[in-house]
Amino acid sequence: MNRIFSGMQPTRLLHLGNYLGALRNWVALQDQYECIFCVVDLHALTLPQDAPTLTKNIRAVAAAYIAAGIDPDRNLIYNQSAVSGHSELAWIFSCHTPMGWLNRMTQFKEKAGKQKDMAALGLYAYPVLMAADILLYKATHVPVGEDQKQHLELARDIAGAFNRFYEKDVFPLPEPQILGEATRVMSLRDGTKKMSKSDESDYSRINLTDDADAIALKIRKAKTDPEPLPATLEELAKRAEADNLVTIYAALENISKQDALSRHAGATFSAFKADLCDLAVAKLSPITDKMNQLLGDPAELDRILRKGADKANEIAARTMAEVKDIVGLLRP
Ligand code: TYM
Repeated sequence: MNRIFSGMQPTRLLHLGNYLGALRNWVALQDQYECIFCVVDLHALTLPQDAPTLTKNIRAVAAAYIAAGIDPDRNLIYNQSAVSGHSELAWIFSCHTPMGWLNRMTQFKEKAGKQKDMAALGLYAYPVLMAADILLYKATHVPVGEDQKQHLELARDIAGAFNRFYEKDVFPLPEPQILGEATRVMSLRDGTKKMSKSDESDYSRINLTDDADAIALKIRKAKTDPEPLPATLEELAKRAEADNLVTIYAALENISKQDALSRHAGATFSAFKADLCDLAVAKLSPITDKMNQLLGDPAELDRILRKGADKANEIAARTMAEVKDIVGLLRP
């Protein structure tokens, strides 16, 4: 059986990178797979959070999933902390994961900054929790952006190590699904940096909550170079910011990068940016409107999350019973 698991952290607001790199692909995949889409709130705790803002953001991420087109009646949508199996399985996995594997994780090195000794244990152990998220449901496929590739390789290593240690085929080795043209959307201010929730400049990203004026301003201010757009992808690849904007255009329009470039070859940036802005507003504003509408009824969102958590818990409880028996933990 093929089952998808994926999730997003409710840290700050979702941005265009989250949408084009992951969420949009989820919407297409829900027709082919049984899907579990989680708001990974325990992951958010790996960096300091303001409690009321975190609660708000958990609902906002759930609202974004639904607004983007995930049907809560056909897929499970819930928040991670509502299913205790995630933390339990993460502990068991952490006892089977050599620290050397975690030492290789580049995201820890980036997020921990210079003072590694002061970074939280949770930030270091984060990829183990991520492996538990996926394997708790024995998910076979995980649609994510390119930045999660290394974490998914670790999840496969952990699954393999567990299966070998207990000599049982308990967990599948989950396959990453890194799909579409925009697997790594870059900052609007610096084409060499990933678009990220944690960038201090809000001009570096388009948030799913931005209105048409904010989107227009951010695209207008996006860093570019003085030359018109080239005709070939080889030329484009030498210009990081231009490349990023064409990638975003292609992904939003659902065409190849080559087609997006052919449409605009020779155009000045002011003309291309005007087109990109119209496209971004046309594609994103229905999502923003729907999100705002959903956030107006938090009780209904909570009901959806509760229903999702109850169903997720049924699957999780089965895996945890199996794992506890295999490991030798008594279930009195
Ligand atoms: P997070 O919350 O940082 O991002 C959510 C999803 O968005 C993708 N993404 C991007 N894609 C393209 N360009 C970008 N600039 C960009 N920024 C983010 C991410 O690849 C991701 O798919 N560790 C995960 C959350 C997680 C998870 C999981 C994912 C926890 N457990 C289990 C899958 C399965 C994360 O921090 O994603």
